[in-house]
Amino acid sequence: MSAKIIDGKAIASQFREKMKEELKQLKSQEIIPGLAVIIIGEDPASVSYVKAKIRACEEVGIYSRCIRLSGDTTEQELLQHIDKLNQDVQIHGILVQLPLPLHISEKAVIDAISPEKDVDGFHPMSVGNMLIGDECFLPCTPHGIVKMIQHTGTELAGKNVVVVGRSNIVGKPVSMLLLQENATVTICHSKTQNLAEHTKKADILVVAVGKAGVIGPEHVSEGTIVIDVGVNRNAEGKLVGDVRFDELLSIASHITPVPGGVGPMTITMLLYNTIESAKKHLPSVVV
Ligand code: GUN
Repeated sequence: MSAKIIDGKAIASQFREKMKEELKQLKSQEIIPGLAVIIIGEDPASVSYVKAKIRACEEVGIYSRCIRLSGDTTEQELLQHIDKLNQDVQIHGILVQLPLPLHISEKAVIDAISPEKDVDGFHPMSVGNMLIGDECFLPCTPHGIVKMIQHTGTELAGKNVVVVGRSNIVGKPVSMLLLQENATVTICHSKTQNLAEHTKKADILVVAVGKAGVIGPEHVSEGTIVIDVGVNRNAEGKLVGDVRFDELLSIASHITPVPGGVGPMTITMLLYNTIESAKKHLPSVVV
């Protein structure tokens, strides 16, 4: 048996076509969603992620503004930029690309973004609302992962999902979203004993560790859906995931590639959140 490849690029493209239609509608009501992206420094991975986000906005017809700040920008200066964007009526979503230089507090920056424009879903208010299942911007990578699993036609309710990794950006929030979908969720991490014992029980395995090739055939049972969130460079400089993709092709039922898996869906959910944010500014209809 050979695993079906979950083509994130193709799924993203379907979502983006629908968004283009919605954006035309909004334009006719004089609403143009706007996203501001702030990047500090020249980290090559961050620069390339930000470029992809801006390109995606241009492709679907979302107004974007990229603010590139030097690596020695102070926290105060950054907070002033955020404050201005919080008040800018052209901007419905604000994203500060992480990681930040060490002299800037990530917490201070995330807290400064207005929850109404928090299209990353990282503000404590967004995280709290997500946890209790209230309306909020869902974090983009976790939301994209749920959409990709659903795209396979798999019902999440009652499934054993094992998440490897407990970051605030992916591991913890994706676990909460999958729980919301009534999956039985196990979270494994660097202190987990006998990792394979847990991962082998998974119907669906989500791997978000950030280390090339940590998951292989010894961790996966026949027929598992494998979602690889890792983006790493191997010794030859090639982009690879956290999962040994080739070795799992004969074991998994479905698997995401890297690149072309989770990445395009993360950006698509960012576009989605920006459009949803702009829609809140539509004039209310009086009946
Ligand atoms: N760095 C890596 N992933 C992300 C993300 O989803 N949002 C932001 N702001 N920074 C990131």
